[in-house]
Amino acid sequence: MLHLVLAEAALETIPMSLWKHPLIRKYAKKRGKGPGALLLDLSFHYSAAKKLKDIEKRGRPDIVHLALLEALGSPLNKVGLLKVYVHTYANYLIYIRPDVRLPRNYLRFVGLMEQLLEVGKVPPDSDNPLLIAKKGDLSDLIGEIAPTKVILMTEEGEKMKLMELGKLLLSMPKPLVIIGAFQRGDFKKETKALSDLKISIFDESLDAWTVVSRVITAYEIAKGIV
Ligand SMILES: C[S@@+](CC[C@H](N)C(=O)[O-])C[C@H]1O[C@@H](n2cnc3c(N)ncnc32)[C@H](O)[C@@H]1O
Repeated sequence: MLHLVLAEAALETIPMSLWKHPLIRKYAKKRGKGPGALLLDLSFHYSAAKKLKDIEKRGRPDIVHLALLEALGSPLNKVGLLKVYVHTYANYLIYIRPDVRLPRNYLRFVGLMEQLLEVGKVPPDSDNPLLIAKKGDLSDLIGEIAPTKVILMTEEGEKMKLMELGKLLLSMPKPLVIIGAFQRGDFKKETKALSDLKISIFDESLDAWTVVSRVITAYEIAKGIV
């Protein structure tokens, strides 16, 4: 089974330092919720958020949406050999049941994530929720999964052909692959320190969802699923 973590994901509620900004107040009023219950999205909030620390790694829930649709819709997930998790920039961990059907529509996905971060699970009254969110960092998650190897996907890693990567992952009893779910910039040094191997699949930086798709495909081919 392949464990996949979308790490340092650019998905968080609007930080308190922005709550009084006129643009944020207007947005919150329009959405009919308090700003702390809404996701930060740079396509709506850029002029209020542009001075935030690490701005290039924040406010892009669309990256998580596309990467999750890619992973959850894969043949690997359909045969029960994929487990996907999200670790966010603000250190929340999101646990995803493989049979969840996420909204295809972005605005509905945002509403779902807002409910998840507010209540901690979706559906809110379920004993076996489709999604769970709790505070925690990447080392907590890796400790829980207890993989045999942690592989960090990065354009700065050792160059490897996809077919080789598939075989390598298949040769490991319990591999965990980390892919950054942010727009630009590097992983934190704590994240890099948690990895056993750093692998690049192409000379240039690729979008997170493209890397998700390639890693899963490599594993599926090595395993003979597709
Ligand atoms: C858009 S990139 C992150 C930003 C990127 N470091 C930059 O500054 O352009 C999203 C993620 O995809 C993965 N990734 C991107 N390009 C890659 C490559 N050539 N090989 C392996 N992984 C890659 C990394 O995990 C990275 O964090």
